[in-house]
Amino acid sequence: MRSPFLFLPLFLYFIVQVPAQEHPDVAIIVKGSDLVAEISDTFVCATLDWWPREKCNYYQCPWGESSILNLNLSHPFLAKSIRAFSPLRIRVGGSLQDQVVYGMPNLGTPCLPFSKTDDGLFGFSRGCLSTSRWDEINHLFQKTGVVTTFGLNALYGRHRAQSNQWVGAWNSTNARAFIEYSISKGYNVDSWEFGNELSGQGVSASVSADQYARDLIALKAVLKVLYRGSRREALLVAPGGFFDQPWYARLLQASGAGTIDAVTHHIYNLGPGNDPNIRERITDPAYLSGEADTYRALRLTIQRTGPWSSAWVGEAGGAFNSGSRLVSKAFLNSFCALLWHRLMGKGVLSTDVSGSSYLRAYAHCRKGKEGGVSMLLINLSRYTKFSVRVVDVLYGDGEGGRRDDGKREEYHLTAKDGNHLSQTVLLNGTPLEISEEGDVPPLNPVNAAVRSPVEVAPLSIAFVVLPDFEAKACLR
Ligand SMILES: *[C@@H]1O[C@H](CO)[C@@H](O)[C@H](O)[C@H]1NC(C)=O
Ligand SMILES: *[C@@H]1O[C@H](CO)[C@@H](O)[C@H](O)[C@H]1NC(C)=O
Ligand SMILES: *[C@@H]1O[C@H](CO)[C@@H](O)[C@H](O)[C@H]1NC(C)=O
Repeated sequence: MRSPFLFLPLFLYFIVQVPAQEHPDVAIIVKGSDLVAEISDTFVCATLDWWPREKCNYYQCPWGESSILNLNLSHPFLAKSIRAFSPLRIRVGGSLQDQVVYGMPNLGTPCLPFSKTDDGLFGFSRGCLSTSRWDEINHLFQKTGVVTTFGLNALYGRHRAQSNQWVGAWNSTNARAFIEYSISKGYNVDSWEFGNELSGQGVSASVSADQYARDLIALKAVLKVLYRGSRREALLVAPGGFFDQPWYARLLQASGAGTIDAVTHHIYNLGPGNDPNIRERITDPAYLSGEADTYRALRLTIQRTGPWSSAWVGEAGGAFNSGSRLVSKAFLNSFCALLWHRLMGKGVLSTDVSGSSYLRAYAHCRKGKEGGVSMLLINLSRYTKFSVRVVDVLYGDGEGGRRDDGKREEYHLTAKDGNHLSQTVLLNGTPLEISEEGDVPPLNPVNAAVRSPVEVAPLSIAFVVLPDFEAKACLR
């Protein structure tokens, strides 16, 4: 029988065959005629945080020497890892950001690092970023082509009023000198982010949306003056916090058209790092889908109150308070991000999965090549083995220009010993390890006949590249 979708020629049609007693058949339909969204070149990005080695949660202190202030910037692994993602956006920011001062002459106090103190936010004093450290960081960033987003201290000059409410106007003096210094040195900061997790109720401190908006208007004016005559003015990004609809809407309204270029929010939907339910949550499709509602609400808020702006995820740690010891550094690791970066292009195609929520499917235009589609399939099921048959209805089903000889490329990521909490990931069955020199191992696909079914193992991730799939939207 001919496929009922034959009259819609730009659809790719997957038939997923599952034992009837477990699930109904699952079909994935990718619409190749239109893009539903576009991602940026720096969709996969990273945060360098401020936490010093003294930061501990749940009887462990995982940060070690990974802070902006103590990271070994000349370690070759670091430069090699950054280059693997080129261009990598690095956001410099995190909880202590609103206690960072910059070692500019106008600081008026010595430039000292963070120290533990009971009366400071998050249990730490102010800490200072010296010009020499900032120079070293930029040396690395320039060498490796980093796109920098720098999070500014948005509490400077305010004082605590009651509980965690901070009041008073932001004092821009120290930040302004820091931005001016950065421009004078030719440091290419793509965007300045204002504040960290001060929105809504705040995490440790909060600021009202109206006051925040006034300060953003002032900061935008500072940027306008300082970037006069530059090739490009840096973007202004805010508020880098948890999405609180009324607060975000008010911020966009009160700061006005053109002030905030990108609205950032953070995702920590798994809960605190010591929550025993995290292991279940990371494979529970219903739970994971909750984040889509948050993102949709943010997008809607921007459309209604700040259409000049766009929605960014500024930080997504999964589990808060330094991650979950068993889950955060397991199987789902940076190799998956690297494959995404290499294979998934900017154009996002509409993907419709019906039947099972345990199979997640994403389709993008193929990266770096004209035509073709890359798909990401995630099998969250522990027990049901789907077999995905790819039918490209563009060439009919059994007649005409059908290409039985076509090939597709598959990259299957599985966890060692089938344990998704393992720290070793296998690509097409072979463990992926960084070499002793810090080089990324080759990430090679296996080829399969385009008409054969794709088997996605339980609790695994597969990237599938379909070079012959002619998505019209990807040819522009
Ligand atoms: C940084 O890493 C390099 C290369 O491994 C090493 O030689 C150097 O001693 C390290 N520096 C510090 C301060 O640990
Ligand atoms: C703002 O901060 C600077 C130090 O960076 C200080 O000299 C100045 O007095 C402050 N301004 C106000 C209005 O508090
Ligand atoms: C997902 O894994 C289950 C468990 O073995 C399996 O039955 C199912 O076929 C897999 N899904 C796909 C799309 O291969």
